[in-house]
Amino acid sequence: MSNIFRTKSIEKLLEGAQENGEGKSLKKVLGAFELTMLGIGAIIGTGIFVLTGVAAAKYSGPALILSFVISGLACAFAGLCYAEFAAMVPIAGSAYTYGYAALGEIWAWIIGWDLILEYAVTISAVAIGWSGYIVSLLKAAGIHLPAALINAPGVDGGMVNLPAIIIIVLIAALLIRGVKESATLNNIMVGIKIAVVILFIALGTFHIKPANWVPFMPFGWKGVFQGAAIVFFAYIGFDAVSTAAEEVKNPQKDLPKGIIASLIVCTILYIVVSAILTGMVPFLDFKETSAPVAYALAQVGINWGSALVSVGAVSGITSVLLVMMFGQTRVFFAMSRDGLIPKTLGEVHPKLLTPVKSTVLVGIVTSLVAGFTPITVVAELSNIGTLAAFVIVSAAVIMLRVKRPDIKRPFRCPWVPVIPLLSTFFCVGLIFALPRITHIRFIVWLVIGIVIYFTYSRKHSTLNNG
Ligand code: ALA
Repeated sequence: MSNIFRTKSIEKLLEGAQENGEGKSLKKVLGAFELTMLGIGAIIGTGIFVLTGVAAAKYSGPALILSFVISGLACAFAGLCYAEFAAMVPIAGSAYTYGYAALGEIWAWIIGWDLILEYAVTISAVAIGWSGYIVSLLKAAGIHLPAALINAPGVDGGMVNLPAIIIIVLIAALLIRGVKESATLNNIMVGIKIAVVILFIALGTFHIKPANWVPFMPFGWKGVFQGAAIVFFAYIGFDAVSTAAEEVKNPQKDLPKGIIASLIVCTILYIVVSAILTGMVPFLDFKETSAPVAYALAQVGINWGSALVSVGAVSGITSVLLVMMFGQTRVFFAMSRDGLIPKTLGEVHPKLLTPVKSTVLVGIVTSLVAGFTPITVVAELSNIGTLAAFVIVSAAVIMLRVKRPDIKRPFRCPWVPVIPLLSTFFCVGLIFALPRITHIRFIVWLVIGIVIYFTYSRKHSTLNNG
């Protein structure tokens, strides 16, 4: 039984990642700039473009800004913990790999299983959000798609959400072609979405009515925290930077830079956008829209701005899909290399140097979920999966400082153990602010994972070979 807590030494992890020349390793093409863009690419998306409205109308009111500050703090503390690990163990697999080094195999498995939930569910949720935006853009252009083909069964006469499936298939195809090509396209899309967010800020500032900020906290602190647990989704993705570790030219320096820089840029944008958004329109009006940012501009009569923001949102949400799917395949890559999931999921295509099989698998599963499930069911699950991973990574930073003080840490999380403890405190708080049904679904997912671990993974772990 004790072998479920066996750890993989950092030295062994680094060695494993260096096996070269047999088509096993990934191409090293990314620098600090690309990583920051990758981070922003994963971060700004459905959260700010869609969920801000839900949170403002139902939970936070104008105090949406406080909700963003609270979840931003949770991410800032967790981000510093991620940065320490990412620089120390620059290996594909992110939190999963850190757990393997610090806490033992069973914890690594739980994090990996949890990350599968985070990424797969986020991909599906974001694709459904993308579909909603593209459908409304087409509608504005006079093209009406039949309801049966744009909604999941049980939602407004739907049979299948075809646009959500199509976008996932396209993104998977792009990732199979190669990382550098994907990174270039990502940079363009990230540029567009930052531009539309800034456009919104520039236009919206002149239409703030301070009266809209009163009452500031219509649903009290409880609402602010529930809102924070929802808009937390907007920050998901900075950890995806660390999944790309093996494709980075100078990971020790560039990974912490990429994680921290993308988090800072997004936090600032979110806080400004949420203040302006709630200042432009009475918060209850957001009940009527699933595109709050574009909606607010249309409400004050800036229709061209509203249309531009919609186009930018589509492009922005596309880049979230790109990075999330990328992250998911890299987690598979790491887990299969360790034998915890079948080897074939970690194979790198000899010519394309990308993990083709796992990308295809992720594409099939997430597109089926996106095509046939309502967005509400999938969206909340991503938050709980991510928060749980953050808690484990924070604990792992403290553990590894005690167990292996000797390891070289090119980036050190400041004030250990205070920062990791604060991270844990905030993340656990946000987990409790999520609805109970989400807790239950999450526990079911974990139980399935533990059964798989004991029936398959423990027996196939490469650590069995001495
Ligand atoms: N943070 C990402 C988004 O908001 C997942 O779409």
